[in-house]
Amino acid sequence: MKRVLVVGGAGYIGAHVTQALLDAGHLPVVLDSLFTGHRDLLPPNVPFMEGDIGDRALLERCFTDNAIDVVMHFAAFSQVAESVSSPLKYYDNNVGKTAILLAEMIRHDVRQIVFSSTAAVYGEPRSDRISEDHPLSPGNPYGTTKLAVERMLADCERAYGLRHVSFRYFNAAGADLQSRRGERHLPETHLIPLVLQAATGRRESIAVFGDDYPTPDGTCVRDYVHVADLAQAHLLGLDVLDMKTTPRVFNLGNEHGFSVREVIEVAREVTGLPIKDRVEPRRPGDASVLVADSSLARRELGWTPRYASPEDIITSAWNWEVAEAERDKLCRISTTR
Ligand code: UFG
Repeated sequence: MKRVLVVGGAGYIGAHVTQALLDAGHLPVVLDSLFTGHRDLLPPNVPFMEGDIGDRALLERCFTDNAIDVVMHFAAFSQVAESVSSPLKYYDNNVGKTAILLAEMIRHDVRQIVFSSTAAVYGEPRSDRISEDHPLSPGNPYGTTKLAVERMLADCERAYGLRHVSFRYFNAAGADLQSRRGERHLPETHLIPLVLQAATGRRESIAVFGDDYPTPDGTCVRDYVHVADLAQAHLLGLDVLDMKTTPRVFNLGNEHGFSVREVIEVAREVTGLPIKDRVEPRRPGDASVLVADSSLARRELGWTPRYASPEDIITSAWNWEVAEAERDKLCRISTTR
């Protein structure tokens, strides 16, 4: 049993990991600014502090009051397009405030951290499957800030003995299997929730950003990984922190790519609803194919994704989306399923 400070724990992935920590018998405490997080995504009764990881006084109180063993760090801005137009916002929040968090951890002798990184650290892929030793060449400030933190963690491990694990997520997707929480980004930019919003009528249609990529159907291919499987990897990451010599950086993906058109087609099957699509120009910065080689996580952590099929991922996301649409009272479908 570990006492885990989950920073950014009221966001999409952080809230799922918080639930998984509770279910596994750990004691999570959540710190979240609620800039992009949502209090109602948290499990009920989990200790919660509203605030920022750049707030030294708050961190001081948090570490003094809670005897934290390990930090899990999800507190980052994560919109690629916004990071291009407002890079300093990303450097300040994702890098500057992480330096404050790490300094306070070391001051309070908390020397273990699990960090949310991203496949965006690789940039345009040079191979079909991306492994951890693929060249690192982020194509946008979001990816650059995540890579900067990975390097900061490696430096802190050498200098202060701060043990770390960084997880490079591919396309996090899906929702809690009991529909207690799911994706809610404002504004929403991710493919699967947008497709499902087109099914419930919260949106007219889904834009397909480019159908002239060098892929079988011309649309971009991604490796979608269920958020419950990501949460499982975080639990396994806790064990690795106790070992001295294992790798510190792991890709998390299913090693199978699905195109935008394939995702829309699976969504039509899962929902039984017509989903209108329209082709739009390519979105700047999109790589044509991003698929993980996650054999390191499988081998070293014993990680086995359980919900790898797009049907499983989209079904869980659909159940959550129907609940969200009902909350918005904009649902055009019958929910007597
Ligand atoms: N797409 C559309 N229409 C939409 C939204 C997305 O066609 O309305 C396409 C995109 O062009 C892309 C694919 O669907 O080809 C997936 O797009 P997402 O926005 O869902 O996800 P990304 O692949 O752009 O980004 C994800 C994470 C990032 C991470 C990146 C790199 O959200 O944080 O993967 O792995 F940086």
